[in-house]
Amino acid sequence: MRIILVGSNGTIGSHVAAELEKRHDVIRASANKGPLKVNITSASSIRSMYKFVGKFDAVVCTAGTAYFGPFHVMKEKDFYTGIKSKLMGQVNLVMLGKNKINEGGSFTLTTGILYRDPVREGAALSMVNNAVHGFVLGAAIELKRNVRINAVSPGLVEDSAAQLSSYFPGHIPVPMWKVVQGYVKSVEGFGTGQVIEVL
Ligand SMILES: NC(=O)c1ccc[n+]([C@@H]2O[C@H](COP(=O)([O-])OP(=O)(O)OC[C@H]3O[C@@H](n4cnc5c(N)ncnc54)[C@H](OP(=O)(O)O)[C@@H]3O)[C@@H](O)[C@H]2O)c1
Repeated sequence: MRIILVGSNGTIGSHVAAELEKRHDVIRASANKGPLKVNITSASSIRSMYKFVGKFDAVVCTAGTAYFGPFHVMKEKDFYTGIKSKLMGQVNLVMLGKNKINEGGSFTLTTGILYRDPVREGAALSMVNNAVHGFVLGAAIELKRNVRINAVSPGLVEDSAAQLSSYFPGHIPVPMWKVVQGYVKSVEGFGTGQVIEVL
């Protein structure tokens, strides 16, 4: 398969790329580092990426941010960070790619366990993760040409635990190999409309 991986330099994305590259042609894309640059908060940047790539069989997104910080001082604008990036960035990858992707292709988006297991200061992430799941459910029944869509929802990943574990008391970090298998299941499996939770 020819797979576009957005967020390929990231903590999760770099491992997903290494695994998928064993069997597929992976086009690595990310915000700041090559070989292919894309900013998912910009529809025109996503369009340019698809134009540059040409034909493809799958899109995997391991990119997308949201505000993380104290709830009581959050402003409306703080919510829009995640709406613009982790939500609409991923939604637009699908909306702008759905007529270009090959028949039987797939989209794999990324959410996270905060969708149902919240932590302090994570309200915007909890909100956005659930919104992405809603999009996956709704889009799955309308995508044409046997195109599939799923979300992978990892728990706190081992590789991020040193940096983030104080925000996730009691969460058991998930080994990276397990997280990577969530993406393999979405891309190489046959399910659609699924939230693939990896804990
Ligand atoms: N790490 C965890 O424990 C964990 C757990 C559950 C869920 N998640 C979710 O998994 C996703 C990836 O997390 P991560 O820890 O791997 O993040 P990360 O290490 O910060 O990597 C993010 C990747 O996304 C790219 N990126 C950032 N903003 C972008 C944009 N606007 N357009 C295109 N690419 C962009 C970055 O590109 P550059 O390197 O070029 O800047 C980088 O390749 C996030 O949605 C996160 O919420 C993470």
